[in-house]
Amino acid sequence: MKRLIFISAVVLVAAVFGVISLPSHASDKQKTVTFNKDVAPILFKNCAECHRPGEIAPMSLLSYKDARPWARSIKEKVMTGTMPPWHADPKYGEFTNDRRLSPGDVATIASWVDQGAPEGNAKDLQAAPKFLDGWNIGKPDIVFYMPEAYSVPADGVVDYKYFTVPTNFTEDRWIQAAEIRPGTRGVVHHIIVFTKNGSDQKLLTGYAPGEQPVVISDGLAKKVPAGSSLVFQVHYTPNGTAATDRSYVGLIFSKTKPRNEVLTRPVMNTRFVIPPGDPNHKVDSSYTFAEDSHIHSLMPHMHFRGKDFEYRVTFPDGTSKVILSVPKYDFAWQSYYILKEPIAAPKGTRLDCLAHFDNSDKNRYNPDPSKEVRWGDQTFEEMMIGWTSYTVDKNEQKPAMAAAGQK
Ligand code: HEC
Repeated sequence: MKRLIFISAVVLVAAVFGVISLPSHASDKQKTVTFNKDVAPILFKNCAECHRPGEIAPMSLLSYKDARPWARSIKEKVMTGTMPPWHADPKYGEFTNDRRLSPGDVATIASWVDQGAPEGNAKDLQAAPKFLDGWNIGKPDIVFYMPEAYSVPADGVVDYKYFTVPTNFTEDRWIQAAEIRPGTRGVVHHIIVFTKNGSDQKLLTGYAPGEQPVVISDGLAKKVPAGSSLVFQVHYTPNGTAATDRSYVGLIFSKTKPRNEVLTRPVMNTRFVIPPGDPNHKVDSSYTFAEDSHIHSLMPHMHFRGKDFEYRVTFPDGTSKVILSVPKYDFAWQSYYILKEPIAAPKGTRLDCLAHFDNSDKNRYNPDPSKEVRWGDQTFEEMMIGWTSYTVDKNEQKPAMAAAGQK
């Protein structure tokens, strides 16, 4: 059975159509490549997710008028693989949300720019993709706002802020997709929304630059127990102008009873000390599965000194393999990596995360190479977390049971 976890609909469409629209190299040379016929479909499928009004990219690429001034830059960014952003080493693992363009699409964009970036015939242009009120997941079933707006000062450092909203759910709810929208994007660095049920707190979803919303499929879901609250953990980064923010999260409920619950665990190390100036300081963390499980998705998290990050599994029989390698970690891109095939992790399987930090002056993002750096919330401090989403096999519902449980 084909399993798709945490996949953004936009990316799925991109992956499916990207393959079908490969142009043939032989005819490329003679053929006129136009925006309307050849390039717009590539931009709509692979770039519009971020390059549209109100999203994280600096410009929209939805129309010829928007895209034309960027033609040279577009060619350069796609040829160097800088855009679309994707940071996993292709040697390890396959991911359903791999954003890379096919070589055919890169060639099409390059020929278009080389031919003077012509617009082409209006009747060739397909309709631009529609986004519902900015939501990437589609229309949410329910939206929770922070209980009040927060006033972010013009400057200084703001500690993480926590805002709690009751769900008023009277029964357990299963979440198939979740998307956090920052109220004032310019001052929101990141948001994590937790589900809090008594003293039990679990990660529901996160927002950070470059991070995709969580969309779970294949009969899996995240659980929000009856009576839970949602806790917003918000990291504000003052940007010179005082602002107010009221961020919100949209949830889509599973249409059928899920067959398993997705859990997300931080495989982290909080006890490191990175010496001043050290260009390659190693920090590792590990977790041993206590029950037969399946690993579905991964997300490395470090701050500005983060350099590279690798996940390796070692099975009870002693064999081991790298399941994700991010050789050039970029703090601006907090990417999920959704495994094409979930990895079976029988009880006793060890997951090892290995990170390196660059605290030298060669790292141009380094806030201060003269500082010794330890774990801390602020971006001038560091973190080392290998977020890991998995399911526990014994919780798996037999299809018949799941069907019987449907309402
Ligand atoms: C996941 C979000 C995302 C996707 C997908 C994406 N971009 Fe970007 N793009 C950004 C962001 C954010 C920036 C600005 C920051 C940066 O350059 O890293 C950017 C910058 C750019 C720039 C440079 C703009 C400048 O200021 O010089 C170009 C050109 C570009 N993107 C083209 C594309 C094209 C073409 C695609 C699709 C084939 C694409 N991008 C896909 C987010 C994205």
